[in-house]
Amino acid sequence: MSTSQSTPMPSAPTGPPDAVLRPHAETAYAAELAALAAADDRPRPERWRLSPWAVATYLLGGTLPDGTVVTPKYVGPRRIVEVAVTTLATDRALLLLGVPGTAKTWVSEHLAAAVSGDSTLLVQGTAGTPEEAIRYGWNYARLLAEGPSRDALVPSPVLRAMAEGLTARVEELTRIPADVQDTLITILSEKTLPIPELGEEVQAVRGFNLIATANDRDRGVNDLSSALRRRFNTVVLPLPATLDDEVAIVARRVAELGRSLDLPQLPSALTEIQRVVTVFRELRDGVTADGRTKLKSPSGTLSTAEAISVVTSGLALAAHFGDGQLRAADVAAGLLGAVVRDPATDRLVWQEYLESVVRERADWKDFYRGCRDAAAL
Ligand SMILES: Nc1ncnc2c1ncn2[C@@H]1O[C@H](COP(=O)(O)OP(=O)(O)OP(=O)(O)O)[C@@H](O)[C@H]1O
Ligand SMILES: [Mg+2]
Repeated sequence: MSTSQSTPMPSAPTGPPDAVLRPHAETAYAAELAALAAADDRPRPERWRLSPWAVATYLLGGTLPDGTVVTPKYVGPRRIVEVAVTTLATDRALLLLGVPGTAKTWVSEHLAAAVSGDSTLLVQGTAGTPEEAIRYGWNYARLLAEGPSRDALVPSPVLRAMAEGLTARVEELTRIPADVQDTLITILSEKTLPIPELGEEVQAVRGFNLIATANDRDRGVNDLSSALRRRFNTVVLPLPATLDDEVAIVARRVAELGRSLDLPQLPSALTEIQRVVTVFRELRDGVTADGRTKLKSPSGTLSTAEAISVVTSGLALAAHFGDGQLRAADVAAGLLGAVVRDPATDRLVWQEYLESVVRERADWKDFYRGCRDAAAL
C-alpha cells in the first residue's frame, strides 16, 4: 500500500501571517491575550492560560492597568460570560444555546482561545458525524502494516484535548445523531475514553473541558438525551437587548470584516447600519420600534449575523461600484435576500412593510426608493 506522490500538497504561501483570510482568534487577538496574561495576577485553574477574570475581560473588553485596551468580543450581559467561564473551570461542560446568529460559535471560539490558547480542537456536528470524529479513527495503512498501535491511531480533537488538558469544541451538537452524541457521556462523566483495540484508555488531564453549541431552532432534529444534557451547564445567548447594542455589534464586525477584505472604511455606513438593524428588529419582533404598528414576520431568522453580512455586501458594492458613500441602494439587494426567503409569503410581508412603514418615514425616502427598486429587479 503506497500513497501517491504525484500530486504534492500545495505549498503554504510564504506571505505574512495576515495573508490568512480568517485567522483564528488566538492569532488575531494575540497581542490582547499576551497583555492580559502579563497583567493577570489572579489564580489560574491548571493549564489555563488566563484566570477566569482575565478570560471574562477578554470577552467583554476593558482597559488594563498598563493602558492596553481590550476590545469587547461579546456584547451582552456580563453575567452570561461569567457563568460560561466559571463552568469551564468546573467538571461540567458548557452548552451554548440560542437562536441562530446569537454568537454561539463566536463565543465558543474566543473562550477556547482565551482559556487554552487554542480554538482549533473542533468537531463540526452534522447529521453525518461519525463516532470516530468524537473518539478516534485509524490510519488504515499503518493499521494493516503494523496492527493496532498508538501510532496507527488518529485521535479526534476531543481526544487530543483530553490528553493535553485543553478545551475541545463541538459545533451544532443537536445535529449529530443521538447514538453518536452519546459517545460524549463517558467522556464527560468518567473523563476517560477507552480504546478497546489497544486495551488502553486515555484519561483526561486537568484543564480539559468541552464547549458545545446548539441552535434553538434545530431542537427536535436530534434532541439531546437527558443523560447527556445533565453533563452540561446550559447558557442561553439572547438576541441583542436594544437597537443600540445591535448597531454597535454590527458596526464593529463590519469594520473588522471590511479591514480583512481590504474594503475602504466609509464614514457614511452608520446611517445604513442603523436602518438595516431597525428593519431586522421590527420584522423580527412583529411590531414597529414605536410600538404602534403590528407587522407580519417573515420566515427567515433575520439574525445579527445576517445584518452583518447585508451591510458588508453593501460596503463591497459601494466600494467597487459606488461613489465612496454607502447608499441605501447598496444594502437594499442584500436586505431583500435576507428578508425574502420564501418567495411566496415573504415577498408580501416585505411589500407590506415597505409601503406601510418605510414609505411613511420622512428621512427614509432614499431607503424606500432603494428597496423598491431592488424588489422590482
Ligand atoms: N451579542 C453579540 N456580541 C458580539 N457579536 C455578536 C453578537 N451577536 C452576534 N454577533 C456577531 O454575529 C456573528 C455570527 O455569530 P455566530 O456565527 O457565532 O452565531 P451562531 O449563534 O453560532 O449562529 P448559528 O446558530 O447560525 O450557528 C459573529 O460575527 C458575531 O460577532
Ligand atoms: Mg454557530
